[in-house]
Amino acid sequence: MLSIVEHDHGTPLREGTKLVTLSIDGREVTVPEGTSVMRAASLSDVKIPKLCATEQLEAFGSCRMCLVQIEGMKGLPASCTTPVAQGMVVHTQNAQLAQIRRGVMELYISDHPLDCLTCPANGHCELQDMAGVVGLREVRYGYAGANHLDAPKDESNPYFTFDASKCIVCSRCVRACDEQQGTLALTIQGRGFDSTVSASQNESFMASECVSCGACVQACPTATLSEKSLIEKGQAEHSITTTCAYCGVGCSFRAEMQGEELVRMVPNSDGHANHGHSCVKGRFAIGYATHADRILKPMIRERITDPWREVSWEEAIGHAAAELKRIQAKYGRNSIGGITSSRCTNEETYLVQKLVRAGFGNNNVDTCARVCHSPTGYGLKNTLGESAGTQNFDSVMQADVILVIGANPTDGHPVFASQMKRRLRQGAKLIVADPRRIDLVRTPHIAATHHLKLRPGTNVALINSLAHVIVTEGLVQEDFVRERCEADSFEKWRDFVALEKNSPEAMQAITGVPAAEVRAAARLYATGGNGAIYYGLGVTEHSQGSTMVMGIANLAMATGNVGREGVGVNPLRGQNNVQGSCDMGSFPHEFPGYRHVSDDQVRARFEGAWGVSLHGEPGLRIPNMFEAALDGDFKGLYIEGEDIAQSDPNTQHVTAALSAMECIIVQDLFLNESAKFAHVFLPGSSFLEKDGTFTNAERRISRVRKVMEPKARYADWETTQLLANALGYPMSYTHPSQIMDEIAQLTPTFTNVSYERLDELGSIQWPCNDQHPQGTPTMHVGQFVRGKGKFLLTEYVPTAEKVNARYPLILTTGRILSQYNVGAQTRRTENNRWHEEDRVEIHPHDAEERGIAEGDWVGIASRAGDTVLRARITERVQPGVIYTTFHFPESGANVITTDNSDWATNCPEYKVTAVQATRVTQPSEWQKRFREFTDTQEALLKGAGAEALAGK
Ligand code: SF4
Ligand code: SF4
Ligand code: SF4
Ligand code: FES
Repeated sequence: MLSIVEHDHGTPLREGTKLVTLSIDGREVTVPEGTSVMRAASLSDVKIPKLCATEQLEAFGSCRMCLVQIEGMKGLPASCTTPVAQGMVVHTQNAQLAQIRRGVMELYISDHPLDCLTCPANGHCELQDMAGVVGLREVRYGYAGANHLDAPKDESNPYFTFDASKCIVCSRCVRACDEQQGTLALTIQGRGFDSTVSASQNESFMASECVSCGACVQACPTATLSEKSLIEKGQAEHSITTTCAYCGVGCSFRAEMQGEELVRMVPNSDGHANHGHSCVKGRFAIGYATHADRILKPMIRERITDPWREVSWEEAIGHAAAELKRIQAKYGRNSIGGITSSRCTNEETYLVQKLVRAGFGNNNVDTCARVCHSPTGYGLKNTLGESAGTQNFDSVMQADVILVIGANPTDGHPVFASQMKRRLRQGAKLIVADPRRIDLVRTPHIAATHHLKLRPGTNVALINSLAHVIVTEGLVQEDFVRERCEADSFEKWRDFVALEKNSPEAMQAITGVPAAEVRAAARLYATGGNGAIYYGLGVTEHSQGSTMVMGIANLAMATGNVGREGVGVNPLRGQNNVQGSCDMGSFPHEFPGYRHVSDDQVRARFEGAWGVSLHGEPGLRIPNMFEAALDGDFKGLYIEGEDIAQSDPNTQHVTAALSAMECIIVQDLFLNESAKFAHVFLPGSSFLEKDGTFTNAERRISRVRKVMEPKARYADWETTQLLANALGYPMSYTHPSQIMDEIAQLTPTFTNVSYERLDELGSIQWPCNDQHPQGTPTMHVGQFVRGKGKFLLTEYVPTAEKVNARYPLILTTGRILSQYNVGAQTRRTENNRWHEEDRVEIHPHDAEERGIAEGDWVGIASRAGDTVLRARITERVQPGVIYTTFHFPESGANVITTDNSDWATNCPEYKVTAVQATRVTQPSEWQKRFREFTDTQEALLKGAGAEALAGK
């Protein structure tokens, strides 16, 4: 955990069951068949010199440094490309080998700058190391001949440099971009002496297809590709393993440190979710954690028109507690509540819901998962019996047909997308169901067999028509259904989807997808081998989000695609800890482990552990809190790590509700949009400043480890504890591990989870209990968690959000790789270089009709509100559909989205809003008001009074 350098065995692990024994320099070594001689040697502590090999990449055999002598074999083979064989006798050292290696090294060094002492790679340069290993003492060729020492640097990427003068053309970067990342942005151009690394068609890295994942930087054995932070700060002296705080992939990283200062983030090759890979956010977009905008002192104010006043922690906590008590005394116990966030750790989220249930004395707690994956919990629990995805990420490597519905993995879950692309390049088939042409539809060496370009809002119609084909064409896996599922529910479902109204031909008019294409896709999914479904918010954020999740589960059960590797139903969770925040009981109706608050036995268990009596009635969901606030019944809110004023739909409705409250306490890193309506600000801590755990989209619990002290004195869990104590509900944890111990004690799926066990295993996929002591990579093996799988009827009900002459287009929303949700973190990094504003994508046909050209300002009006964005004209979207991202508050994407929501869970219908788009010349009225309000709040932050502002 504290080591800086991970050991690299030179070529990738082979996991075959057949073992081979050989002799290397007189040592006997036994390894799986297919292992390279180089790796076998390394595993027996025999180091063979190497330059072009690394265990992250398949061997290439270009540098000739790793030659060995093998008895009975002609010549001197490269150990990186030579597989082991039974009885093989290998010699890695002799005079001839030493001479060849020195000769090779001499050639490299004769065209390499000798500025080792000032080079950023000094101390971890493999070229330098190998020069030492082979005993290079002179360079006979001198430096006067043709060389590359003056080759120009490419500094275009904000996070790394490319110094061509130091390149040894080992092609590790090219292979990393191909094999690990799957972007294929790099090539080796030219031949022999003229060979150089080139990004795209000889462009700068920034202008090329490069997505700045950093895999090439990590693979480079020299200083050619180097992180700018490393060049600036020098090498780290220790490292600590932790987990990325961005998306639901949950990549493991080594935070490389100089004391309390972060030098760089290096993806951990032992990371079970990422296997040494990363994306631009996790590796590079870390600057927000130490950004000058961070608020490090607690603040209070009476009214939101007052200037903020910095106060001591004691005063802030005391004031917050007094206000909450005052409100409850005046308006009743249910007049306050709390919201936690999927950005928080499990332990923090657990404490917030405990504070609300035990300290506030009600169940008014909710989480941002309400607005993303709450339908997943509902839909999967009711069909399969567990509210979570069925597989681990590695399972995709066994999939034969991959069905991606309403997800954009290359932007939203980039590291998993790279793994998926690897499988697709190996030959798995791809079906994409999405209104928009996401990158996965056509990307280097990958083309979707079917792109079902459905109209937004018609998911359920599509899933029913896919099911119709499977049922009516005899493609149901009868044995699986008979043994594993409820017969009665299956029969009802089968009869329902077989109805003519659900046929692709009948549904074509609704979905817009040609019936023949639906039929072909259904046949491929049902008969193409292991079928795996991956879905995202394009499934859940609809008025029928829960219905669609059930439809997906039905389809997987009917085709026998659950309960083993390579198949399953896999929700791609958006944020780092969406799964965890749901697991931790942050919904108003459920305790940790998805147990209903009305269950007397469960409640008694929590009452015993927490020492209070608890309520058996579900509390308010976020939208109900807003309604109650506008009705005058809900007056106080504690928000930890969530920005509802930007992320929730119908912004004007949300801000009206916030304005109607008497005490809003915001705990966050920055003065976010919600904090502009707050009365108490409690500084939050970044993931680098605390211990805890995150649970990723695979149910994988991973440790978050403190690498620096909290910049504002307290980690978030400590702040919640201070508030609980001030309210008179005692909490006395001294470390988050104690919180996890309590979670484990009270949550059956977490029984055997502890920090010790996490340290031992690296990460754990729940359930982890006596039946599954090592965790559970694949769920529903043998039987479903609920016993028999249950088919549920999924009648298609069109959304109430209709297009008409006034609002003829449908707006749908999504994310982009370089930004993350409300953008509070990524907007405070160089990632803005890739995406500095949200734009609206519009089809050329719709643009032309409206006289809109690329870059024009476009007014977008819906029934909820209007905003103005600049146009991007593209055929990625279909005619009649426009698309935007929501990473910048001033874009006001959620000013347009409506209050429509999923019938079962209230998850907002972000993906379907009827709008009109027109060419305009100035910001919308809302945007003008927003700018004014923001300027005022920023001035109030600096201490100016409203009166002073009024006179400015
Ligand atoms: S940073 Fe990633 S995408 Fe860019 S060239 Fe390197 S490996 Fe390829
Ligand atoms: S940039 Fe680095 S990894 Fe790529 S070819 Fe040059 S030395 Fe090798
Ligand atoms: S894929 Fe997700 S978890 Fe991994 S580095 Fe990127 S943002 Fe972080
Ligand atoms: S390390 Fe084997 S040929 Fe380069």
